[in-house]
Amino acid sequence: MAVKRIGVIGSGQLGRMMALAATHLDTEFVFFDEASESPCSNLGKSIQPSSDNALKAFIESVDVVTYESENTDATLVDDINQQVPVYPSSISLLKSQHRLTEKSFFQSIGIQTADFRKVESLADLTSAVEELGLPIILKTTREGYDGKGQAMIKEASDVEAAWQTLQGTELIAEAFVHFSRELSVIAARNVKGDVEIYPLAENDHSAGILRVSRVPVKALSEQKLTQARQYITTLLNELNHVGVLTLELFDTDSGLIANEMAPRVHNSGHWSIEGAYCSQFENHIRAICDMPLGSTSARQEYAAMINIIGKHGNQESVLKQENSFYHAYGKSERLNRKIGHINIVASNEAEIERTIKQYSAFVSECGE
Ligand SMILES: Nc1ncnc2c1ncn2[C@@H]1O[C@H](COP(=O)(O)OP(=O)(O)O)[C@@H](O)[C@H]1O
Ligand SMILES: [Mg+2]
Repeated sequence: MAVKRIGVIGSGQLGRMMALAATHLDTEFVFFDEASESPCSNLGKSIQPSSDNALKAFIESVDVVTYESENTDATLVDDINQQVPVYPSSISLLKSQHRLTEKSFFQSIGIQTADFRKVESLADLTSAVEELGLPIILKTTREGYDGKGQAMIKEASDVEAAWQTLQGTELIAEAFVHFSRELSVIAARNVKGDVEIYPLAENDHSAGILRVSRVPVKALSEQKLTQARQYITTLLNELNHVGVLTLELFDTDSGLIANEMAPRVHNSGHWSIEGAYCSQFENHIRAICDMPLGSTSARQEYAAMINIIGKHGNQESVLKQENSFYHAYGKSERLNRKIGHINIVASNEAEIERTIKQYSAFVSECGE
């Protein structure tokens, strides 16, 4: 079998974990990114877009291309796709990188979302508050991550401040969803259209950043599980998506409400590296290389992932533990930066919770 040369637009931790997960399948990686030093530096060739003939050199050195971020330039994706396939296609990208487009798309295919309004002026925002009621969350339609580009409006008196903070770009006002917890569903679809869905994860956020994911989700009704599986399958097929796709969900009394999707591997799926038979990273590469998908089932009854944010913490304490796996991304410490994660697997819930507790310093050291 010939070596498959995979191009990745970007060179962050997601590209790094793709390369780490798939090199054993006779793949080679080329990263297309401006950074000269990156989490991917030692895992393949890097081409800087600003260098001479960079795009041509990138295209000539790969058989298939993927990307790490929903903010990837869709025009670039279409240009490259004229010569080598890029997965997921720009359709998945365009629907994911604009919150209004994304939520309208969800609703058009029967996926429940929060009520929302487009906001382009203070008058729009005032009407949105009247129509949706309070609280609402005002968000930029593009480029938000880790809760950035958002303002909560709890009372009428917060409207002006929220507007002052975010005005200047297109905005969306969303009704606040009163959820009991946040979940995510991740699935892979390959070139042939086969779909494999991971067990759902329950995700704890703090200050807008994911801290801990747990699998399986406790006491999830059959009905909600079916709803999540239907949502992600419909999305994958409607988008003709190839690769991994993630859908973030709010768990509410009236069912699961979709928050946002990401046309890529996702932080809440990092547990799958040791927790599933085939990780989200390997399955993403299998999917775009037209290989059969691997099993998404969990290897052990329980798994968890703890983000290492801001500071590296006591790595040794993790390496000593049989049930724990330390993943560093080759990034320096910086406030609120995701620089690694810890995966935990266990056969019982008590052990998972005990181990998460042992690592509480990692959860709280996160630069808050
Ligand atoms: N409509 C909403 N109702 C309640 N909470 C929300 C809503 N939208 C976002 N949030 C909270 O803010 C977090 C970040 O918002 P999200 O839309 O996922 O943006 P990001 O792109 O930053 O992840 C969510 O994980 C959730 O905790
Ligand atoms: Mg989110």
